[in-house]
Amino acid sequence: MASIVGAITTSHVPAIGRAIEKGLQDDPYWKPFFDGFPPVRRWLADVRPDVMVLVSNDHGLNFFLDKMPTFAIGAAPDYPNADEGWGIARLPPLPGDPALSWHLIESLVADEFDLTTCQEMFLDHASMLPMALCWPDMRWPVRVIPVSVNTVQAPLPSAARCYRLGQAIARAVQAWPGDERVVVMGTGGLSHQLDGERAGFINKDFDLRFMDSMRTDPRWATAFGTVDLVRLAGTQGVELLNWMVARGALPDAVRQVHANYHIPISNTAAGLMVLEPERSQVPA
Ligand code: DHB
Ligand code: FE
Repeated sequence: MASIVGAITTSHVPAIGRAIEKGLQDDPYWKPFFDGFPPVRRWLADVRPDVMVLVSNDHGLNFFLDKMPTFAIGAAPDYPNADEGWGIARLPPLPGDPALSWHLIESLVADEFDLTTCQEMFLDHASMLPMALCWPDMRWPVRVIPVSVNTVQAPLPSAARCYRLGQAIARAVQAWPGDERVVVMGTGGLSHQLDGERAGFINKDFDLRFMDSMRTDPRWATAFGTVDLVRLAGTQGVELLNWMVARGALPDAVRQVHANYHIPISNTAAGLMVLEPERSQVPA
């Protein structure tokens, strides 16, 4: 039986790619952000995942406003980098795992999550940059299954629905006969708003409460509707829905391996967490 060995949740911002390309990791502006990642890398070296279920939102690359799946999943042999161009010049494609993708699709659809299945998918900054932060040498040691959540165009899936999608992903992984070790990564958030009257909006109190809930009370945010989340976290802060999917894939009892929070990176409150099931629940 495959097992979920933990979850990583992190913000994504295109400017991170430019900072990597220019080697600005120790620049005073960037250092508090990049310093969050060495513990993530040490944890990854320790848990040695085979597969990454990579939950993010598409920013108009695969899906535009004319066709917007609420949830989509990749089933491709690989996923080319299509970071919007002001990032890292050459990022190798992420290797896929079509057999496990199709197993997840079969299982999720049977579980009444009707995802759009994509046999071709390009990945933007929301997927590629968190991968480059986890593995700066960009020699990907995991096979990737991308999951895309509509956080862009109303109506969005509810936080409760996203949490339940994570639970269904966990059931699907556990039903796979292989012995893969799987990490779920949710990218986006935390509070930010890129446009409109509240452009630049950040809500530190909400972000810290949300991060605390990820550890201690994972259903806390499921009480909020989309309008509540926009009010509390901003129009792009709703990307925290991707964190809810990742959190739903873990059991209630988790150990917080690591957390970091830094304001701002570009217009975004940058949050980072690593959570793992209580040790007794993970096969050695
Ligand atoms: C920024 C944040 C995002 O989530 C995004 O997708 C694009 C830009 C920003 O803060 O610049
Ligand atoms: Fe985004």
